[in-house]
Amino acid sequence: MTGADDLMCRRNAVLAPSYYHSFAAPLHIVRGAGVWMWDASGKRYLDCYNNVPSVGHCHPRVTAALTAQAETLNTHTRYLHDGIVTLAERMLAKLPTAVDTAAFTCTGSEANDLALQMARRFTGAEGVAVFDHAYHGNSALTLAASPSEYPASERPDWLCVLEPPNLFRGPYRAGDSKAAEKYLAQAVQALDALESRGHRLACLLLDASWDANGPLIAPPGYVSALCDEMRRRGGLIICDEVQAGYCRLGAHWWGFQDYTVTPDIVTCGKPMGAGHPVAATFARRDVAQALADTSVYFNTFGGNPVSAAVANAVIDVIEDEGLLGNAGRVGAYFRTALAALQERHPMIGAVQGAGLFYGLDMVSDRKTRAPFSRDDMARLGSMIAEEGVLTGISGAMGQTLKLRPPLVFGQEHVDITVAAIDRALTRL
Ligand SMILES: Cc1ncc(COP(=O)(O)O)c(C=O)c1O
Repeated sequence: MTGADDLMCRRNAVLAPSYYHSFAAPLHIVRGAGVWMWDASGKRYLDCYNNVPSVGHCHPRVTAALTAQAETLNTHTRYLHDGIVTLAERMLAKLPTAVDTAAFTCTGSEANDLALQMARRFTGAEGVAVFDHAYHGNSALTLAASPSEYPASERPDWLCVLEPPNLFRGPYRAGDSKAAEKYLAQAVQALDALESRGHRLACLLLDASWDANGPLIAPPGYVSALCDEMRRRGGLIICDEVQAGYCRLGAHWWGFQDYTVTPDIVTCGKPMGAGHPVAATFARRDVAQALADTSVYFNTFGGNPVSAAVANAVIDVIEDEGLLGNAGRVGAYFRTALAALQERHPMIGAVQGAGLFYGLDMVSDRKTRAPFSRDDMARLGSMIAEEGVLTGISGAMGQTLKLRPPLVFGQEHVDITVAAIDRALTRL
């Protein structure tokens, strides 16, 4: 039995059965630096999957900030501390002026949970609109608002599920000049159905990258028209930026800025701490006040001085190293390289996404667009890992190869990734 097999047996014996791992032969990763990770045998992997180490694994400025604050003080938000206030000021400066209030959490799930509570309290309504197959968190409320996680037959009555604007696989596709109107008409129907079930709308929960579906890019005009429709019905707009935010899509700090959207609440998580658990809910003050009128907010670890020091250091690195520009520049190079790869491999049905976030929708037949089976996707991911590059799987049918590296990815890393996928697809 190898060391990894032994660890796997011990893990299976003690961890909850709902845990899973990437790849049929699980990797035992022991070290990370920048865009690289090493396993216990010393083999090096290029990380083309993880957005959590947003500024790269173990960035020295981030670990130095963490260590310095951990050696000084770590406590909660019931004492005055400069770190959390500075962090709130810096984050709010990046958001539309109306979104002027911050609350800190440890995870994206908590941030979305708090956002949903605020929206419901402010509107006095219960209905929540989300996209099919979306994932928004693991708390009871956010899980219920995550259609990817359970059968459609178990959806709560208050959930309004919208068709994701997938221009490759959805009902309305690229080349249909009326696709935006048709997706909107579907949303109107779903909202009417919600109201006819007796539920007023509290909010739309929007991930502007449609991460669990792809990623996707919506047809022009769709998102703003959808938000207008939500507002007409009294709903707030919550932008879940856990995936799309922090420069990921290459053009702006936030994903929603790719569209004409004025959010009432913005949530953020994973990339804020580059591996450290820090997340946040940013809201209009009157919306945050509605919840404060009836309950206090306390989160033992949310916004603690160590987390605030880390999150401030991550912003410093993004700004000082020009990582938004990098995501745009390297992202454009990545897209061109993937389009060229698609020319060589008919199994790549579509290249979707933007910035440093791409999905290859894999088809076993280009004409019918029949998706790769889950087994074939698993084989493909393992073969690319054997080639030394780590990728992920996404999509409604698990048919999308997900490429979403740290923001410090360079053109040389794109070349390595594309060559590895090329070799794996040739072997497949
Ligand atoms: C779009 C989106 N929202 C929320 C979450 C939940 O974040 P966390 O895992 O930090 O609770 C995730 C996690 O993958 C996500 O992708």
